[in-house]
Amino acid sequence: MPQIINGKEISAQIKEELKDKVKAMKEDGISVCLAVIQVGDDPASSVYVGNKKKACAYIGITSLSYELPEETTQEELLALIGELNKRKDVNGILVQLPVPAHIDKDAVIRAIAPEKDVDGFHPQSVGALCIGQEGFVSCTPAGIIQLLKRSGIEIAGKECVIIGRSNIVGKPMALLLLRENGTVTVTHSGTKDLKEVTRRADILVAAVGKPKMITREYVKEGAVVIDVGIHRNENNKLCGDVDYDDVAPVCSAITPVPGGVGPMTIAMLMNNCVESAALRQ
Ligand code: GUN
Repeated sequence: MPQIINGKEISAQIKEELKDKVKAMKEDGISVCLAVIQVGDDPASSVYVGNKKKACAYIGITSLSYELPEETTQEELLALIGELNKRKDVNGILVQLPVPAHIDKDAVIRAIAPEKDVDGFHPQSVGALCIGQEGFVSCTPAGIIQLLKRSGIEIAGKECVIIGRSNIVGKPMALLLLRENGTVTVTHSGTKDLKEVTRRADILVAAVGKPKMITREYVKEGAVVIDVGIHRNENNKLCGDVDYDDVAPVCSAITPVPGGVGPMTIAMLMNNCVESAALRQ
């Protein structure tokens, strides 16, 4: 059976490391503060935001919570971001996505000062990652790199295939694997002979958004399989983009859903907040 990559355990380890770091920083008079903005009351967003605030409290990061009504105008939201950009005590600003349709998401992302862009979504952050300069990195792909490294999986020289090209996962994932000297292929809904391409992968990252789409026909024997998806199946149970029971017997390592990639996203967000505070000093 394959190595099960335990994201719950690895994220807990990272959170312990951060807790110690935040304690030491406090002793040096440096505090860490994340501002979390949610517009509207989308239930899934409320759960994510709640989890982020809980993680902050656990690690010793102050969280400022802005729960704005659905009718908030773009100008009002941009004005709040402008104020938070100026505040010296705020190290990170996060606007939970999606925002309501009347607000231009890209304008909101651009308004966040890059030095407080702990989500790593600002064009300057993405550009810096692309050309190998310092900047915040999108949390889910950064978490996947940590999962691989902390599980003793080598990336350099490996064939890495990503299924999905989103701005939040697929594209930054490609840049990070490239930075680690992987050989990277990005596939998407228009890729011809997808199975043939994915079967070349030593490391396969599935970020497709379709429950259990990736069966063993997509996977080379002995590959490492990373599952970014999270869905509810017909029995209301959580499942990923990968058909775990079908794929696990043929791969060398795999992330489960839940307890794989999911918990790493928040751990890396916390890491970015701590880094932001440390860099400001
Ligand atoms: N919505 C879903 N995932 C994320 C995320 O990582 N950051 C933000 N800001 N919104 C999201």
